[in-house]
Formats: sequence, C-alpha cells, structure tokens
Amino acid sequence: MASIAVIGLGPTGLATGVALASGGHRVLGVDIDSNRIERIQNANPPFHEAGLKPALRRVIRVGRFRVANVFEPMVSEAEFVFLCVGTPSRDDGSMDDGALKTAATSVAKAAIDKRRRTLVVKSTVVPGTTETVIRPILDSSGAPFRIAVNPEFLREGKALADTLHPDRIVIGAGDSVTAKRIRALYRPAKCPVYLTTLRTAEMIKYATNGFLATKVAFANELANLCDVFGVSYDEVHRGLALDPRINPRFLIPGVGFGGSCFPKDIRALAVAGQAHGYDPSLLRAILTQNDQQFLRAVELLESELGSLRAKRIALLGLAFKGGTDDVRESRAVPIAKALKERGAVVIGYDPVATTNFHKAVPDVVIATSIEEALKDADGCIVQADWPAFAKLSAADFLKPMAAPVVVDGRRILKPNRMKGVRLRRIG
Ligand code: UDX
Repeated sequence: MASIAVIGLGPTGLATGVALASGGHRVLGVDIDSNRIERIQNANPPFHEAGLKPALRRVIRVGRFRVANVFEPMVSEAEFVFLCVGTPSRDDGSMDDGALKTAATSVAKAAIDKRRRTLVVKSTVVPGTTETVIRPILDSSGAPFRIAVNPEFLREGKALADTLHPDRIVIGAGDSVTAKRIRALYRPAKCPVYLTTLRTAEMIKYATNGFLATKVAFANELANLCDVFGVSYDEVHRGLALDPRINPRFLIPGVGFGGSCFPKDIRALAVAGQAHGYDPSLLRAILTQNDQQFLRAVELLESELGSLRAKRIALLGLAFKGGTDDVRESRAVPIAKALKERGAVVIGYDPVATTNFHKAVPDVVIATSIEEALKDADGCIVQADWPAFAKLSAADFLKPMAAPVVVDGRRILKPNRMKGVRLRRIG
C-alpha cells in the first residue's frame, strides 16, 4: 500500500483521496482553506456528494486519511503526490494556472529530502502545461520527480462512485515504469487503462468534456429547431438513436449546461487554441449556443403568461444539476436574473444548494420546500434534474397554483402525469 499526498480537497481531490484510502492506501490531504480542513477532520464534507460522509468517516476512523492546511509533513511522508487544485477561468476565458503553480512550488519546497516521488497531475490543464509549467517548477527544487497526468472523469454528485468504479483510466507518463506504478494504485478497478503521453492525456480530458458539451449544445439546437418546425424532439431523438453510430446518451435538451467543468474547459481550450494561431470556431459556437439557451425557458413562460411583470415565478433547482450543491455556472443564475429584469418575483428552491445560490444571487426569495415555492405562483421553471422534481405530478402544481404554467427545463416531468397543467418543454 502506498502513501499518497492529495493537494487540493475540492470535489475531485476529496473523492480521489477517500477512494484511494478506501482501497487501502494511506492518504495525506492538503488544502490551504482552514475551514475546509476543519470540516473534513470532523468527517463533515464541505460539499454535497452522495456517500462521501460515511466513506470519509470510515477512512478517518481506521487512520488511513489525514488532512492538514500545510504541505509539511504531508508531502515528505508521501511516495505519490496528486495535484487536484482548481484551474478556473480567467476573465478572458483562459485557464488560470495560479493555484497550480503555487501548489507545485509548495510541493517542490516540501520535497526537501530529495527522495524520488511521483507527481500526478489530476487538475484539468491545457495540453503542454505539465511539461512547460509544472515540470520546470519541480526540477528547480533539485528533487527527482517522476511526472504523470491522470485526468479525472468524475461527475459531481457521483464523484465517489465514479472514483471507486471508473469506466476507464487514462495515464499519461514519460515512461512505462511510472505509468505502471500509477496503474497499481487503482487495483482492483477492472476497466480499460489507456497509457499515453503527458500531453495526450491532458488533451483527452478536454476532448471528453468538449464532446459531451457539444452533444448537449447540439441537442439544444435541435430541440429549438423542432419547435420551429412543430416536430417532437422525443420522436426525433428516438429516430436518431436508431443509427448505430449515434449514442443517444447526453442528448437531453433543456436550458443548457453549467457546472465547474464544461463551460470553463471549453473556454480554456478555445482560448489556448487561439493563442496557438488556430480559430476554434466550433467551440466558440457551442459556448454562444449555451449562453443563450436559458432564455428559451423564459420565453416559453412569456408565451403562456404574457408579461412577467409582478408575476410570481417558482424556480425549482438552483444547483447546476441535481445531486450537487454546486451553483457554479448554474443556469439558475441567468434565469433568475432574466426573470427579475422582466419584473417577476422569483422564489427559488433547491434540496441542498440554497445557501450557495443565495451568495451568488442575494435578491431571490428562497423557499424551504417545493410546496412553499409553488404557493400562489403564476409559473414555474424546473431548472435541475433532482429526483424529487421528477416525481411531481399534476396535483402537486394544481393545489398551490391557480392556473399552473410549468416549463420543464430538464425534461424530467412526465407529460402523461400533468393533466390540467400547461406544461411546456423545449422541443
Ligand atoms: C462533467 C463530466 O460529465 C465529467 O466526466 C467531468 O469529469 C466533469 O464534467 P459534471 O459537470 O459533474 O461532469 O456534470 P454532467 O452530469 O456531465 O452535466 C453537465 C451539464 O450538462 C449539467 O448542467 C447538465 O444538466 C447538462 N446536461 C447533461 C444536459 O443539459 N443534457 C444532457 O443530456 C446531459
């Protein structure tokens, strides 16, 4: 069993650390945020992730998971160092590698014993970053590091399950010994393992997120066109899926994609491509399509209700999707703003994301239940695919609302259970 330092305890770092500790390794977590460290030490995860709390409690209890807000002695005790810090968007859309450089510098300083260690880059970084940014920082320390890139493919809300049961593992490394050492950490995971170069592994992560986002943007465009031509998207989707070359998953139209990955990764890839003299017009179009898609939900409400001035609109789902409390790039933010600009009173509800949403958009009234949000509302937009929303039926809307108009922005409500409700969907 190995000793592994995990730097950065956001959803990726914490899920990776807990999964590796559950697999029998000794994990030493580092994060510069003291509040986060305190919560993790008390087995109280700082964000909503299914199954994380009991798994965290277990690995802390058996002494396989320790955390601190300093790099020492965590790094010096470790054979492997996983870099899991965030790479957010700068204002121009480019990847902000500030936290990455700071973390790499701290790792290099902490590796004072000059023992050979393996540094694994899990943060999403544009191709070339590990070689041109991280390697020089590590080399300057004089400590002998092996370097690898091992992108994560975790879905928020399912991060722990996705780490424990990956459907593929991609490892980019300069040499096969390093790749095999990292592969061994993930045993007994039974899934394809793809060994490649650093740069290719970095690119595979962007390729995956880019393609998935493209599918969503395509589904949204298609659904908008279905509306124009008076055709049912569901039927078109069924017909589309008959082509064996087209995988029907990830083609659910709605109000657009959000979250901490798709928007920022596509922006970063587009800006990096541009910086290298290539104009990524398709990526730019995907971002434009997605930036505008949320308006369709607002327009559907207007087409049913007329002016939204002084109308009460319930916004169900404030997180960027169901299963998480993350509101980063949540489509609920532009939807709420657009509704307010039109003079509507917005009442938001989410099973777990209300606190985070309130910080992002303070002037939205927050309800503590679905019923409270819907009470006396003129209209409703379902923005996130929480299971509790998928279970709603006509009675849930007809009781609290006089003449319910509901826009299903995630295609989760069952039309055949909505008798008496004016249900609108995109496409
Ligand atoms: C994504 C990738 O799935 C994951 O592999 C990667 O590591 C991180 O980015 P995540 O951001 O957690 O994961 O969410 P995901 O479930 O992929 O959904 C992203 C967004 O697309 C959400 O806003 C979701 O509502 C939207 N979406 C997804 C659609 O609108 N339609 C779909 O068919 C699928």
